Amino acid sequence: RRPISLPRLAQMREAGEKIAMLTAYDATFAAVADAAGVECILVGDSLGMVCQGLPSTVGVQLDTMAYHTESVTRGLHRVQGTAWVVADLPFGSYHESREQALRSASRLMQAGAHMVKLEGGGWTAPTVRFLVERGIPVCAHLGLTPQTVHALGGYRVQGKGDAAAAELRRHALELQDAGAAMLVLEMVPAQLSTSLTAELPHCHTIGIGAGKGTAGQVLVMHDMLGVNLGKNPKFVRDFMQGAASVRGAIEAYVQAVKNGSFPDDSLHAW
Ligand code: KIV
Ligand code: NA
Repeated sequence: RRPISLPRLAQMREAGEKIAMLTAYDATFAAVADAAGVECILVGDSLGMVCQGLPSTVGVQLDTMAYHTESVTRGLHRVQGTAWVVADLPFGSYHESREQALRSASRLMQAGAHMVKLEGGGWTAPTVRFLVERGIPVCAHLGLTPQTVHALGGYRVQGKGDAAAAELRRHALELQDAGAAMLVLEMVPAQLSTSLTAELPHCHTIGIGAGKGTAGQVLVMHDMLGVNLGKNPKFVRDFMQGAASVRGAIEAYVQAVKNGSFPDDSLHAW
């Protein structure tokens, strides 16, 4: 297998093949996900909740993201993995200035990431452009952006109604224009994420709680393995049900993403 790259992801998209993304935070699970056929591994700041027991992602530090990114990329290296590794820029690490964002992104790229992810709309576009111009691939993240949970007033569906949908669309187009090659859409109505996917040929949409019309899907690994400190959101499927092993569960997830049987749009709360 050849390493996953941006041209390879574009090819997949062209061919109508869905992109399977999953979070991983350590060497072993990253290697298992890679072997199971996951194309993109997200070292998500969800590790704050999953690994550190924090109440939200707001408390996650850049050093911690670098530590987990190193662990994941070492694990992939050991097994000659091929996954494309995306690492989250945590809260406060890109908000101050483009220069601060570049320093933070450099830290994660030097930890082995292939791409960094940041949350937020149009205000991040100049930052995205600054990083992309300097050779750092960027994934944007719109809809429910967990780092701003306190401003949003909770973990709820975003982009509902014409005005909110139009605003989200404007932000998405600005981010593609700034050079974002990937865009996570979290908890937005399927209709909106489907039409955005058609409007963003150069920016691969990855949905979570956003229906099946996106170019790819992402889940938090622990959620889809049924190990979770809280309650799973409605859109998550427990892939351990009917699987004989963790590797088998992840293979089932990849297969379900590819054949369109996950997500099931009837399970959403839009
Ligand atoms: O941190 C994370 O796991 C994420 C995904 C849920 C998209 O940002
Ligand atoms: Na995240």
